Amino acid sequence: MEASYAYHDSLDPTNLGNFKNRLNVPGRDGLFGLFDASAGPAELVARKEGVQLASGKDTNLLVYRVEREGRVWLNPTFLVKTGYAFSASLTNELDEDTTIHWHGLHLHWRMDGHPLRAVRPGAGYRYAFPVANRGGTYWYHTHGHGSTARQVYMGLAGLFIVEDDDERRVNGALGVELGETDLPLVIQDKNFDAKGNLVYDPDEMARSMGYTGNVILVNTTPTPCLEVGTRLYRLRLLNGSNARLYRLAFAKIGDGELLPYRVIAADGSLLDRPRQVREVFLSPGERADLLLDLTGFEVGEELALQNLSFDPMHREHEMGESMGHGGHASHGGMGHAEEMDADTPRLGDGQEFYVLKMVVKNRVAQDGSVPDVLSTVPSADVCGAGVRTVTLSAATEAGQTRWLINGLSYEPDEYPIVVQKGATEVWEIRNDERSMPHPMHLHGFRCRVLERRNSPRQVGGTAVDEQGRTATDLGWKDTVLVWPGETVRIAIQFSHDLDGEQIYLFHCHILEHEDAGMMINYKVVDPRE
Ligand code: C2O
Ligand code: CU
Ligand code: CU
Repeated sequence: MEASYAYHDSLDPTNLGNFKNRLNVPGRDGLFGLFDASAGPAELVARKEGVQLASGKDTNLLVYRVEREGRVWLNPTFLVKTGYAFSASLTNELDEDTTIHWHGLHLHWRMDGHPLRAVRPGAGYRYAFPVANRGGTYWYHTHGHGSTARQVYMGLAGLFIVEDDDERRVNGALGVELGETDLPLVIQDKNFDAKGNLVYDPDEMARSMGYTGNVILVNTTPTPCLEVGTRLYRLRLLNGSNARLYRLAFAKIGDGELLPYRVIAADGSLLDRPRQVREVFLSPGERADLLLDLTGFEVGEELALQNLSFDPMHREHEMGESMGHGGHASHGGMGHAEEMDADTPRLGDGQEFYVLKMVVKNRVAQDGSVPDVLSTVPSADVCGAGVRTVTLSAATEAGQTRWLINGLSYEPDEYPIVVQKGATEVWEIRNDERSMPHPMHLHGFRCRVLERRNSPRQVGGTAVDEQGRTATDLGWKDTVLVWPGETVRIAIQFSHDLDGEQIYLFHCHILEHEDAGMMINYKVVDPRE
């Protein structure tokens, strides 16, 4: 019996009293440290590393380590500018294949970390590409064939922050500074054993539903706390979890009411203007940049970023064959039941808990203000665009659920979707009723969400327009959550000036789904070649 979970009561995120660990704020170096990529190529080494997270014990992580001028970064937060020539080399010191995928970035497919371009143990690879994207919060992670879920869970992921003129202007107007009042928050859930090491041992159920953890980490700090001043904060959220979906809200502690906040960016770009909300769903792979206004707070007041309860909509067994695991909402609570002590709590999908506690520490001047206009986000031109239907469904065989895209499971040398260079396409992504929410991610190109149809009430209730879109649907996207029974229409413009035929992936960003084949290759071909 390998899985003896020591669920530390002190890390239980449902107990606000536990939120005493000082949040790791990305600084000059260290874990997620800010790394100026314009100062020359980064020499990354993928390797095992013991790192103290909060427990005083070393946790076994897999990291991208880079050293420069005597300083060491682990999973550096790359800072780049649009148009800049980015370059990083990877040396693989793991005992298995790995790659780096630059999530959300438009680049030549050979630089995209496709599993077909795996880097063998002991080998290296040089990634080099001009940064073509708009300013925004992107990220990078390993994409090994069949090993993405475990390798990302063990740590191989970091942020990639792109700056452009709009970003400079907006942060100038807000008066926020990266690493001080503009804070990256990488949210992940993990399980630890008694020694403080990470446990990744998905059973059959977790392999089909996604592996979730009992402990919520922000920038690798479990049950974190952050001291803040009475001002505006920009929070760059990344859901870097393997499978967990969050419904994020802020509340003053001791006060039931949710605080309003603004969404200013989603995945790869600023919105046209700030949108006020009280909650957003954030699925694995997605980013949302939020503005939190604490100018009205008093010193000593406390607030929390929390996960609201929601219906996780695991509807895959609702009709037909039942696996007898007690209904749709309970797999989070049942998945590991046999392996765990009966009294070990499990953090179920859609359960309420806290993510980050904030304590208002000092009264400060707020110089900046929220601009009315953030950037220009032209609406998608879909005139003459072809429509492609993409279906998401489940097939259950011998008690094992497999997730399919257009009825297919991943085949490394098949290209079920071929698009013409320069074409605009509308992809109509339909998720089966008997399914679960799937965050669908497109490599290589960004997309616009055109419409959500037949959304569940917990999503439709937060729609901001007639098309059923939510605030986080309004910018340029690369990862789009599609709920059971829902149809989401996205527009993609496949223009590029890269050389030759391009091969990218389209997959579910629940990493266990991706590894189990909920992924397809697509090809962009040049009709003139
Ligand atoms: Cu962030 Cu192919 O994924
Ligand atoms: Cu990606
Ligand atoms: Cu999925």
